[in-house]
Amino acid sequence: MFVNVLRALEAVILTPKFLLNPSPASYYEYLGDDVIEGQHGKFVDTKKPLWLNLGYWKVARTYPEAAAALATQLGDAAALGPSDALLDVGFGFAEQDFFWIERYGVKHITGVNITAMQVERSQARVKDRGLEGRVELHVGSATKLEFGDASFDKVTALECAHHFDTREQFFREAFRVLRSGGRLATADGTRSVGEGKLTFINKLSLKRWFVPLANMYDRDEYRRKLEAIGFVNVRCESIRNYVFPGVVKYHALRNKGVTMQDAVIELSQDEIDRCVGIELWKLTGLTDYVIFSADKPL
Ligand SMILES: C[S@@+](CC[C@H](N)C(=O)[O-])C[C@H]1O[C@@H](n2cnc3c(N)ncnc32)[C@H](O)[C@@H]1O
Repeated sequence: MFVNVLRALEAVILTPKFLLNPSPASYYEYLGDDVIEGQHGKFVDTKKPLWLNLGYWKVARTYPEAAAALATQLGDAAALGPSDALLDVGFGFAEQDFFWIERYGVKHITGVNITAMQVERSQARVKDRGLEGRVELHVGSATKLEFGDASFDKVTALECAHHFDTREQFFREAFRVLRSGGRLATADGTRSVGEGKLTFINKLSLKRWFVPLANMYDRDEYRRKLEAIGFVNVRCESIRNYVFPGVVKYHALRNKGVTMQDAVIELSQDEIDRCVGIELWKLTGLTDYVIFSADKPL
């Protein structure tokens, strides 16, 4: 615990500017082309997959496999398919959008992302793949969507809604832009059920990693908020045991200097069952990781 507190304080001391900045865009500019802080490769390796999520490590033992497996968890929850007009918010470098087109044959994807640098790079990636006309990416916020009512069949948020100011405002916007019978699906960090009050270190870490305090509730409250807005068929699965232990081991390898390509983690069923590594996430208080899906009534 003590080591983890020191880690949080170190992160705050090394990058105090993040405490003063209201937008997560500055954080994602700093991360650059790598999910691990301080490992920005300046986009030199054009073959590097540009995922920025924690990954789903049930079977996967490398980061690109785990990140894609998490995108599959979300794609399955959204029931993505070839007739979908999808709105994908917080798309990072659009790695998930290319993956969903390949895996599910999604008809059309519109993306909204608050980090202009990511949008610019992603637009170039769309062009390189000849996907203009099928993937359309914009700078903007998930909490203020510039689209008409009932414009989309599906809305997805892959590991980003915890940043939104607020997540609940995004739920309202998602409900508005979905057509009747459409579906919202999220992969998201939350509080665990039954956890106590946030500590000072939690609050400092949340500020450093751009998570508004208003988003700090558990999956039961998450469900209530979706239902209060009008969503039905709300489904939730906690996948935290398949997220935290794997990504903590991956971070440890990378911080020893192993490259993304060479990092292969070892992870036993016992470590998964005990959710090893969860201590690190206790810093922020975001100790649950959930997949939600919810439908707009017909
Ligand atoms: C953890 S990254 C996940 C990126 C991507 N989904 C992935 O899995 O690789 C979070 C993303 O959310 C975006 N983001 C944060 N706040 C946002 C907002 N209010 N509206 C839209 N995007 C936002 C960030 O720019 C970043 O791309």
